[in-house]
Amino acid sequence: MLVRTTVASGLLLLSGAAEACSRVTYHAKVDDRITNGRSMDFVASTNSSIFVFPAGLNKNGSVADNPLKWTSKYGSMIVTMYDKVSIDGMNTEGLTGSLLYLGASDYGARNTSRPGLAIGYWLQYYLDQFATVSEAVADLNKTNLQVVTAALVPGVSSTGHISLSDKSGDNAVFEYLDGALVVHHGKQYQVMTNDPSYDDQLALDRYWEPISNVSLPGTSSPADRYVRLSYYNRLSPDSADLAGVDVWPTLWRTYQDPHDMAFFYESAVMPISVYMFYSDFNFKKGAEVMNLPLREYNWELLQGNMKSNFTKAEPFTPIGGNL
Ligand SMILES: *[C@@H]1O[C@H](CO)[C@@H](O)[C@H](O)[C@H]1NC(C)=O
Ligand SMILES: *[C@@H]1O[C@H](CO)[C@@H](O)[C@H](O)[C@H]1NC(C)=O
Ligand SMILES: *[C@@H]1O[C@H](CO)[C@@H](O)[C@H](O)[C@H]1NC(C)=O
Ligand SMILES: *[C@@H]1O[C@H](CO)[C@@H](O)[C@H](O)[C@H]1NC(C)=O
Ligand SMILES: *[C@@H]1O[C@H](CO)[C@@H](O)[C@H](O)[C@H]1NC(C)=O
Ligand SMILES: *[C@@H]1O[C@H](CO)[C@@H](O)[C@H](O)[C@H]1NC(C)=O
Repeated sequence: MLVRTTVASGLLLLSGAAEACSRVTYHAKVDDRITNGRSMDFVASTNSSIFVFPAGLNKNGSVADNPLKWTSKYGSMIVTMYDKVSIDGMNTEGLTGSLLYLGASDYGARNTSRPGLAIGYWLQYYLDQFATVSEAVADLNKTNLQVVTAALVPGVSSTGHISLSDKSGDNAVFEYLDGALVVHHGKQYQVMTNDPSYDDQLALDRYWEPISNVSLPGTSSPADRYVRLSYYNRLSPDSADLAGVDVWPTLWRTYQDPHDMAFFYESAVMPISVYMFYSDFNFKKGAEVMNLPLREYNWELLQGNMKSNFTKAEPFTPIGGNL
């Protein structure tokens, strides 16, 4: 559960260009825990919803001629874009996958002697059928499917590449370039953003790696995001072990909004996100001192508006008060 703070900040600080998404797999050596995170950065609302798909569903590639057909072997929970594309998800075996924009994609002209698979189900096919990255990779030659794309929103091409990860920390990136599939398979492929092609991203990362402790590229371009995320991921301290770390991780953040008079607090190491509106509290002379003992609550309860959760308190004694 603990996505390390530096990685989380790396994801949060993405901005700018439309069609910009990032994905990272963090491998905590101490308890062998794999955590995947992805951002969705898009020009408009993606009208997303979350689906739970059971095993045993009959599915097909949703193309006119020779659609790929399969029956889901595993259940999955996924997020859609416009309820037309499985864009991110995890199946019951812990195989996770993300579809991210890659403008350089070229799936080749439709060849109806290959089973066709609409891009909206491309990721879903892997989540439905495979428990591990190795199984998904082994299927590539066997099935020889062809991804078929269509515009998701008018004027924006819907072409992407896929990143898969499993419980063992194995990863794979699938890209179609000039009509041919390019696969990067191995534990080291933990970061994916957008253009250019993955081979080029790796080359750029090799350039930055030796100097990354002194300098990192700062723009929102996919290549710069790749380099930063890859650096933060390398540098992130191991889960549950902050001792001996020479970079102090972010633990929490606050935001104040003097327009609506609201106060936000979010944890960077737990999924805690709470807020308070000043209009729900009494700040007048004679009112009670109130306190929200964050540390005493289970993280699952620390969500949303905390107006009912403050308790009466005495003001604290400040450090140095004995002097
Ligand atoms: C997203 O939802 C909004 C509001 O329902 C709708 O106006 C818009 O057309 C939808 N966009 C797409 C691409 O489906
Ligand atoms: C493909 O699946 C759709 C539902 O997603 C179904 O309506 C259609 O009949 C199926 N086509 C084939 C050829 O099985
Ligand atoms: C179409 O796919 C079949 C099966 O993979 C292959 O043998 C054939 O060469 C392909 N045709 C073209 C024009 O690429
Ligand atoms: C798939 O086929 C290609 C070329 O035919 C080969 O290089 C590759 O090793 C094969 N991959 C697997 C996982 O069998
Ligand atoms: C960058 O800093 C980290 C943490 O101090 C260190 O482990 C790593 O060797 C350094 N990398 C380079 C290329 O100097
Ligand atoms: C906060 O108060 C609400 C309403 O009384 C309650 O449902 C919720 O469980 C409380 N949360 C905590 C962290 O106690």
